Amino acid sequence: MITDLWYKNAIVYCLSVESFMDSDGDGVGDFRGLTRRLDYLHGLGVTAVWLMPFQASPGRDDGYDVSSYYDVDPRYGTLGDFVEFTHGCKQRGMRVLIDLVVNHTSDQHPWFKSARSSPDSPYRDWYVWSKTKPKDADQGMVFPGVQKTTWTYDEAAKAYYFHRFYEFQPDLNTANPHVQAELLKIMGFWIQLGVSGFRMDAVPFVIAEKGPQAGQEPKTDFGMLRSFREFLQWRKGDSVILGEANVLPKESMKYFGDDGDRLQMMFNFHVNQRLFYALASADAEPLAKAIKETKPAYGTAQWGVFLRNHDELDLGRLEPEQRQAVFEAFGPDKSMQLYDRGIRRRLAPMLSGDRRRLELAYSLMFTLPGTPVMRYGDEIAMGDDLKLAERYCARTPMQWSREPNGGFSTAEKTFLPAISGGGFGYETVNVAAQRRDPNSFLNWIERIIRMRQEVPEIGWGACSVLPTRDKAALALRYDWRNNAVVVLHNFDAAPREVVFRPGGEDEEPDELTNLLSDEHSQPEADGRHRVVLEGYGYRWYRLGGLDYILKRSDI
Ligand code: GLC
Repeated sequence: MITDLWYKNAIVYCLSVESFMDSDGDGVGDFRGLTRRLDYLHGLGVTAVWLMPFQASPGRDDGYDVSSYYDVDPRYGTLGDFVEFTHGCKQRGMRVLIDLVVNHTSDQHPWFKSARSSPDSPYRDWYVWSKTKPKDADQGMVFPGVQKTTWTYDEAAKAYYFHRFYEFQPDLNTANPHVQAELLKIMGFWIQLGVSGFRMDAVPFVIAEKGPQAGQEPKTDFGMLRSFREFLQWRKGDSVILGEANVLPKESMKYFGDDGDRLQMMFNFHVNQRLFYALASADAEPLAKAIKETKPAYGTAQWGVFLRNHDELDLGRLEPEQRQAVFEAFGPDKSMQLYDRGIRRRLAPMLSGDRRRLELAYSLMFTLPGTPVMRYGDEIAMGDDLKLAERYCARTPMQWSREPNGGFSTAEKTFLPAISGGGFGYETVNVAAQRRDPNSFLNWIERIIRMRQEVPEIGWGACSVLPTRDKAALALRYDWRNNAVVVLHNFDAAPREVVFRPGGEDEEPDELTNLLSDEHSQPEADGRHRVVLEGYGYRWYRLGGLDYILKRSDI
C-alpha cells in the first residue's frame, strides 16, 4: 500500500484558538498569537493541528453554535490571519484539521432567522419542524440534566423545531439536497484556504433521519458520508474526515465503509472507555477485547486514539459496575461528574498528578492502534477548574509561564481565568519551567513523540494482543513490512513479571531491543520472554538485534 497517507502516522494536537495565545491583550486567544506558537508545536513533534470551532458564533456552546460558516469570529482575527496561520503550518510541514459543525447551526444564523420568519422562506425546509409537540420530545437529549427537551416551540414559526443538542442549536435538515450542497460548499471553502480535512462533529446525528416520524432509533443514510468523501478527494486528494461518533464497534465499521469508501478516520470511543476502566481497576481484559473488536477491516481506515478531549469523559457504554469503578477512582465527587454518564476533569488531576500513571496513560495513547490525538496542555499535565460550569472546567487558558494569566494574555481579565494556585496553577505548571527541566513531563512527551514517529509499525501495522496470563498486563505486537514491535503495559501499582511469546511457535526466538532504555530482553530457550515491569511500568521493544532503526523493508 502507498505510504503517503499522512494521517496514518501523524501526531494530532487539538486546541481552541480562544484559549491558546492572546496577541493583542484583549483576554481572548487569537490566530496571531497561535501563529507565533507554531514553532513550539513543531518542536514538540506535532504533525497536525486540529482547531476547535473558530467561525462566527454567539458562543453559547463554545463555538459549536455557528452563525456564519464562512467567517472567522472577529474575536480571533480575520480570514487573512487564518490564512497566515495555515501557511505557517504548511511551512513547517504541519497539517490543519478544523471542526465541521453541521448537524446544527446557532439559532442566530441568518438561515434559521429566515426559516422561522415564514413558512414560505427558502430556508424553512433547512430545519426540522413539527406542528404539534412530538410524543418523544423528552427523549434523546445529549445533555441530560441541563437540556430538558429535543423539540422547542418557536413563537415566530408557530411550530416546534428539533434540536438534538441545546435549544439554541436547531438541527439542520441534512436530508435536504440544498443543505447537503451547502455543506459541501463549506468544506470546499476551507479546503481552498489550506486545511487538510475536518473533524466532523456529531456524525451519527448528521446522517440520521430527522423529524417527528423518525423515532428514537432513526434510519441512517451512510451514503452521505461517501458523498462527502468523494467531494473532498476530488477537490484535494489528501484531505480526510475524522468522525466523532460514539457508536458500537459493529456500527463504527459502517462509518469507515465496507471497502473504506466513507470516513478515513474515527475516534475510538470504544477503546477509550475500556482504557479508563483498565487504568481505574488494573484489569486490562476489557481493553484487550475492545482492541480486537475494533480492528478496521480496511487498510486506509484509521482510529484516532485519545485520552481526554474537550468534552466530558463519556463512560455511557461501560457495564454499570465498570462505570462505577471509574467514577470511584477518578471522579468520586458529584461536582466532577456530568450528564449522568461521565467525568469532566482533565487527566492529570484524575491521576493525582502521579508521574508514573501519567506516563503509563500517555505511553498507551501513543501505542494503541491508530493515530494519537492529544489536547493542548496535556504535554505539561495541566489541571482543571471545577468551579467553572459543565465542560468549561477543562478549557482554561494554556499555561505558558509564571507571568500573570500564565503568560497567555496581558489583559486584566481573560475569557476564562487561568488556573492559579494549588498543585496545578500556572505558577508551578507551565511550559517555560518545564522546558528548562530535562526531567519534566514536557520533555518526556517530546521524547516519546519522537520515538512514536520512528515506530510506524503502530500507525500502519497489524496489531495482535499477545497472551500474558495476567489481566493487569497488556502486551501488543505490531507487524509492518517485516518489522515488528512489542509494547508492554502494567496497569497495577505493584510490579509484575510478564511472561510472553512475541512470535508464533514457528518463528525463530528473537531478541527484543528496548527503544526507550538500555535494558534489552533475551528469549529463553523455548522462545518466551520474561520481563519484570515496575508498578505502572511500560516497555517499547523492536523485535531483533541492537539496531533500533527500522531494518527490513519489502520495498
Ligand atoms: C460535539 C462536541 C461538543 C458540542 C456538541 C454540539 O459533541 O464535541 O463539544 O457541544 O457536539 O455541537
